[in-house]
Amino acid sequence: MSTLIKNGRIITAEQDYTADIFIEKDKITTIGLSLNITADKIIDAKGKYVIPGGIDVHTHLDMPFGGTTSSDNFETGTRAAAFGGTTSLIDFAIQPKGKSMREGLDIWRKKAEGKATIDYGFHMIITDLPDERIPEMDDMVAEGVTSFKLFLAYPNVLMVDDATIFKALKQTSNNGGLVCMHAENGMVIDHIVKETVANGNLTPLYHALSRPAAAEAESTNRAIALAEMAGTPIYIVHLTCNDALLKVSEARYKGQPVYAETCTQYLYLSIDDISKPDFEGAKYVFSPPVREKWNQEKLWGGLQKNELQVVSTDHCPFNFVGQKDLGKNDFTKIPNGGPGIENRMQMIYDGGVNEKRISLNRWVEITSTNPAKIFGMYPRKGSIAPGSDADIVIWDPQKDYLISAKTHHMNVDYSMFEGRKVRGIAETVISRGEVIVENDNFFGKAGRGNFVKRDTYGAAWK
Ligand code: URP
Ligand code: ZN
Ligand code: ZN
Repeated sequence: MSTLIKNGRIITAEQDYTADIFIEKDKITTIGLSLNITADKIIDAKGKYVIPGGIDVHTHLDMPFGGTTSSDNFETGTRAAAFGGTTSLIDFAIQPKGKSMREGLDIWRKKAEGKATIDYGFHMIITDLPDERIPEMDDMVAEGVTSFKLFLAYPNVLMVDDATIFKALKQTSNNGGLVCMHAENGMVIDHIVKETVANGNLTPLYHALSRPAAAEAESTNRAIALAEMAGTPIYIVHLTCNDALLKVSEARYKGQPVYAETCTQYLYLSIDDISKPDFEGAKYVFSPPVREKWNQEKLWGGLQKNELQVVSTDHCPFNFVGQKDLGKNDFTKIPNGGPGIENRMQMIYDGGVNEKRISLNRWVEITSTNPAKIFGMYPRKGSIAPGSDADIVIWDPQKDYLISAKTHHMNVDYSMFEGRKVRGIAETVISRGEVIVENDNFFGKAGRGNFVKRDTYGAAWK
């Protein structure tokens, strides 16, 4: 199978030019002006942008949490991702407590195999790390699972102590992996939550009020200090607020290899959303929580100044009816997480490029190229160049789109961005040379997505 994309405006993290792209099987083979090559399929991309497929490095598909399971599995979640212009994702496998990382990886590979419609990798969530298990991190790296998430939040469930984090960081300094940190002070938050509940404050808003920005800033700072002591890079996940951003920028200013992502929801949602009456605030319960609105512009500023390098989604959907309502009378029982995998590219395009906060190149960089570089997939992914995987999105910059749960493809009964109008959508989505989305029709077969074995020593090391 071969495809010729003609007349498109090719936008990468560095370049912006008009040319034709020739794809043979799963790879880009030729880029040039007015290519005179016969192809099985010809797509005219005049007036459209041609970008590397989006890469979402933070998703939770089919993930057990709080007595329920996230509502998108690897089939529905990857399909929704594709509709939104995302052609690769990295999900989080979880080491079962007291068991091996390999057991966790096997569980997650089974969840994905036969289902995923786009390419996927895994980070490994480390839940306990006695000394004898430390070499398992090297086994994961050998499998292409080259990043690890550790939690400073959720005591008794996922939280690990500082020494464990330090040991994990030390191990990545030897094996070229990367530690990703959920930075919130879980012990203090647990205490505030207990006080909050004891005072009879049980509505969703109190989820946010019991997880202060200072708890995130403190843990971000601590994680950065642990990485400094271990002499290795670190990546802070789902950074929400200016207080935490200041810790990242200070470390980067000093020259420490600290990297961080924010997520779409923190750029758009705030404490106003979680304050909505009649339990509607539960739609916006995730951790770390929404913040005061003024933080949003600070986060956009962080993206502009490269203090933040990536926008991911932390896609972790739970239905409003039947899942979020487990916490109807007690916010501590609301499963944490929200849906967003489908909307990331268009929300960052609209709020970023259309609103003139970032350039087209920067949009591609923070949604595709940096994720590929930091997580060991570049230049296979995140780039448009001969030899790269033909993961390509043809983007219509003029098309208006109304975000709604009525029309989205995520398997969840609400949208965090319901009613928002955006301009710019993924018109055609190509994954390893195969057109999987065209004009809102889906052609990708379940199971066609490949596991991506990722490299060590990604961009965080450079
Ligand atoms: O609320 C969230 N973010 N749920 C998913 C788990 C995590 O911490 O990323
Ligand atoms: Zn997290
Ligand atoms: Zn997450």
